[in-house]
Amino acid sequence: MGYFDQGGSNASAPQVDFSRLPRHVAIIMDGNGRWAKKRGLPRTAGHAAGAETFRTIATYCKEIGLEYLTVYAFSTENWKRSAEEVGAIMGLLKKYLLEAIAKMERDRVKMRFFGDLTPLSPELQKLCRQTEEISQRYEGCQVNICLNYGGRDEIVRAARAFALDCLAGRAEPEKLDPERFGAYLYSGGVPDPDLIIRPSGELRVSNFLLWQSAYSEYYFTDVLWPDFSKEELHRALAAYQRRSRRFGGVN
Ligand code: IPE
Ligand code: IPE
Ligand code: MG
Repeated sequence: MGYFDQGGSNASAPQVDFSRLPRHVAIIMDGNGRWAKKRGLPRTAGHAAGAETFRTIATYCKEIGLEYLTVYAFSTENWKRSAEEVGAIMGLLKKYLLEAIAKMERDRVKMRFFGDLTPLSPELQKLCRQTEEISQRYEGCQVNICLNYGGRDEIVRAARAFALDCLAGRAEPEKLDPERFGAYLYSGGVPDPDLIIRPSGELRVSNFLLWQSAYSEYYFTDVLWPDFSKEELHRALAAYQRRSRRFGGVN
């Protein structure tokens, strides 16, 4: 069950109007470790189950015609975990990318990576770049995978890139505004997320899309990511559609 306006009588049969879906949904894929622990399994088994859920949800988002899906797969802080756990996550990523490349012509999903990929293995970096390059020609659905991503890191990098452009005479400090600054972020060219979903019961942002979430709607649910289903996504979409977005104005 979710929080705030999310449950009630609509919880079991959420009414989603598929003609007015949000353009951009973002998900913090959290709760893999707890899912595994509940079953007496190693955390890595939770990550494997979470990767399956990602496949299911990403495919479904494309089916229903969502334009952008952004997922938080690995944060700049997740390196604090054991080498074994980090290694298992990277292994799952490699498996996913190899599959994605093999099935690209069938799936036709445009993919992008948000984050600093340089600490990843050269092999993984290459697979990420290859996935991005091959999929750039597809239209319709774009999946952004946040990998070694941190909202603060992203903003600092953007500030640094802008400062360098100023030094090189390519930009002027007086002309900087939120739109121009946004173009320096990993998400440059992608509209801000309309809806951000966080499963696993945590009520925090954990350094996800700090800049882009200025006016995003949040949906929190106790469901752990590996248990997240199409029905749960429907609940989030239905909750979103009941909200009144004002962006600081009145309606
Ligand atoms: C999310 O699940 C996956 C990553 C952060 C890589 P967790 O591994 O954080 O699962 P919990 O929060 O410990 O249950
Ligand atoms: C956020 O989850 C990062 C990802 C899901 C990739 P965490 O599990 O790392 O966040 P905290 O530690 O609970 O804030
Ligand atoms: Mg977690």
